[in-house]
Amino acid sequence: MTKPKVFVTRIIRDKGLDLVKEFCDAEIWTDELPPDRNTLLKKVRGMEGILCLLTDRIDAAVLDAAGSPLKVISNHAVGFDNIVVAEATARRIPVGNTPGILTDATADFAFALMLAAARRLTEAERYLRDGKWKTWGPSTLLGLDFVGRTLGLVGFGRIGRAMAKRANGFDLRVIYYDPACPAAPELNASPVDSLDALLGEADFVSIHTPLTEQTRHLVNRDFLAKMKPNAVLINTARGPIVNQQDLYEALKAGRIFAAALDVTDPEPLPPDSPLLTLENCLIAPHIASASAHTRDMMAYLAAQNLIAGLKGERLPHCVNPEVYDAR
Ligand code: GLV
Repeated sequence: MTKPKVFVTRIIRDKGLDLVKEFCDAEIWTDELPPDRNTLLKKVRGMEGILCLLTDRIDAAVLDAAGSPLKVISNHAVGFDNIVVAEATARRIPVGNTPGILTDATADFAFALMLAAARRLTEAERYLRDGKWKTWGPSTLLGLDFVGRTLGLVGFGRIGRAMAKRANGFDLRVIYYDPACPAAPELNASPVDSLDALLGEADFVSIHTPLTEQTRHLVNRDFLAKMKPNAVLINTARGPIVNQQDLYEALKAGRIFAAALDVTDPEPLPPDSPLLTLENCLIAPHIASASAHTRDMMAYLAAQNLIAGLKGERLPHCVNPEVYDAR
């Protein structure tokens, strides 16, 4: 029996790749860097499935290049802003993602960023490595406390809720803004009815929304001006949610205490980005989900979505279930 042809845009963890290889005739892109645009357009030609990463833009041109054999797109990520889903839906192609499995790893990392920014951890390490540590100083590298402060979550989906659970253990008060989410008394977190209300109260503001046209540059000059003077911004969602020029200006002027970002715009962040000149800006290279177990499971879920789509079965995690409506 011939196996369905698929293109896998990078080497993913064996837990997923082994499954793909068993079921499919897989062409796997083995470079460290993603295929460039022209290569992607060539490689997808005639494929029945594409297993892609958040670094691959999947739009009308890619779907057209793949052509009529294409049955499924499986994204190795929970976020899917790299895919023009409406174009896939118009062609009745289901798109899969990997929700749930990376919730805890991402919340752990967002929490680590929040602690590190509040206590100036990366700045302190640079200070030590630069040979500036001369003695114990009563006022050296003073940071912010957690106890009794307020964490404001912008978005209260799976990852926002996991943040609330962690914050309870640190005696932080938790508020959130998410018109789509009902109250969550079991998480000891209170909804507020506007973003302004959240910004007026929160000492730590953590972003947990998808990137959409509504959230692009949500964190701009106006947003930053409404944050409390000693507040900290944490972004583990998507880089373009933050207007980086506005953030740079706010941090440089000391308008807010610090920012900690796992995501930037663009990615990778160019080494000459002005943000990298600031002591009060901690930046990680988009690794919030990067634990071995989580990445194993993301690869596995992505493989399961791919295979289900190839078999004509409903994807276990489908972001455009309307493709099944009129079948
Ligand atoms: C990572 O950013 C993801 O969306 O899975």
